[in-house]
Amino acid sequence: MKRLSAHLGGPRLWVKREDCTGVGLGGNKLRKLDYVLGEAIDAGADTLVSGGVVQSNSQRQVAAAAAKLGFDCHLAVYHGRLAPPSPEYEHTGNALLNRLFGATLHDVPWNGDRNGAIRDLADRLRSEGRKPYVVPYGVSNPLGAVGYASTIAEIAATGLSPAAIVHCTGSAGTQAGLVVGAQIALPQTRIVGIDIDAEPERVRADVLTYAEGAAALLDHTLDPSGVEVVAGHAGPAYGVPHDATVAAMRLGAGLEALVLDPVYSGKGLAGLIALVQSGRWTQDQDVVFIHTGGAPALFAYRHLFQE
Ligand SMILES: Cc1ncc(COP(=O)(O)O)c(C=O)c1O
Repeated sequence: MKRLSAHLGGPRLWVKREDCTGVGLGGNKLRKLDYVLGEAIDAGADTLVSGGVVQSNSQRQVAAAAAKLGFDCHLAVYHGRLAPPSPEYEHTGNALLNRLFGATLHDVPWNGDRNGAIRDLADRLRSEGRKPYVVPYGVSNPLGAVGYASTIAEIAATGLSPAAIVHCTGSAGTQAGLVVGAQIALPQTRIVGIDIDAEPERVRADVLTYAEGAAALLDHTLDPSGVEVVAGHAGPAYGVPHDATVAAMRLGAGLEALVLDPVYSGKGLAGLIALVQSGRWTQDQDVVFIHTGGAPALFAYRHLFQE
């Protein structure tokens, strides 16, 4: 990202385009699904069951993968984790794409238990004779984290040995995979997760849990000191962007033609910019930002960009 690097005057910044992973408008969850859905196929499942908030990128990628692989898809759509930020929130972006991919949507209240309603829905479908496979909230589990570790292999294959890889972290599977992958294939590289859930301690604990599980699957012993979750860039709450989020989105778009979103990748870039400005890295170091996707949700927040 030559123009953003010059603008900030810090290290050489690069971007890894996980928003371009291909299926159904892309995003970081597809890399996890690539591994997790192998289990669904092996189990002889006929239906994928998952869930997320109305504008969840995760459930949109589950719906897209289900369409491509020939599964039925049922999604628990959580209402109430955040107040709808615009009248179109319920209908545009990921909400529209879920319907386009043919998923069946079930509205449920958010009660803080990310996987409860997903499991209840799977139980109901099973009692009706279906063979459901539960894809956890955010596709975050040890196997999904192993899938995400493959990102590190791709970065290492470029010959780059960055000082850090920075990305936004929420349900924690992405960071778990990056941490384990880096300890195996890029041991000099620090993985820096920017908390976007405004729950840094919960995120850190979940990264550790999934990273330990992923490390076990890869016959690796995790060094827990590799888990770094940076607080302070999530804005007031999950799904609520603050001025720094919007400023980062404008910089990413205006200098690098990146389409970031106000819930995840915009907050991630805001965190990276703050770390660069704090002088964390020198000008002769390389830092990779992972663009984890999320652009479809941008359309539910168009009021942020109305002059
Ligand atoms: C666009 C985007 N970026 C980042 C994340 C965070 O990844 P993870 O949930 O694996 O921490 C998500 C999903 O929650 C996402 O949709």
